[in-house]
Amino acid sequence: MSEETRIVDLEAVPENGSYRFTAEDPFANETELILVSCDEDPGVRAWINTCPHESQRLDTGDGAAVRDDAIVCPRHGSHFDACSGECDDGPAAGTTLPGVDLAVEDGAVHLADDRYAFLREGGIEDEDGPGSTSHVSF
Ligand code: FES
Repeated sequence: MSEETRIVDLEAVPENGSYRFTAEDPFANETELILVSCDEDPGVRAWINTCPHESQRLDTGDGAAVRDDAIVCPRHGSHFDACSGECDDGPAAGTTLPGVDLAVEDGAVHLADDRYAFLREGGIEDEDGPGSTSHVSF
């Protein structure tokens, strides 16, 4: 693991919330992801920050709602298992959040997925991203 793959200290990932960050794929497309705590090894998961139901951000900037080890979609309330990403209730039932591979080393969470490179803490600053209330642009 190196400084280029390091996301954040594991202890900075909230128990009932999320840590939002941006990564880049090999085609220079930026992708928003969230880190959430998980009871299973290595103690954390990374999920694409988009509900599969209607392209809604799960973490809109203040951390995702996490209740009973499930991420709650802010738009219609579907619950996604924090460890598996699976949803078994609400309008997103039957879907699974896409995830990326992580590694924890020396107390730090690292991106360990060849598809993505860590860019920065926080989300993508665009007006029309997932969670935007406007779907019309002029
Ligand atoms: S947008 Fe997430 S459940 Fe509908």
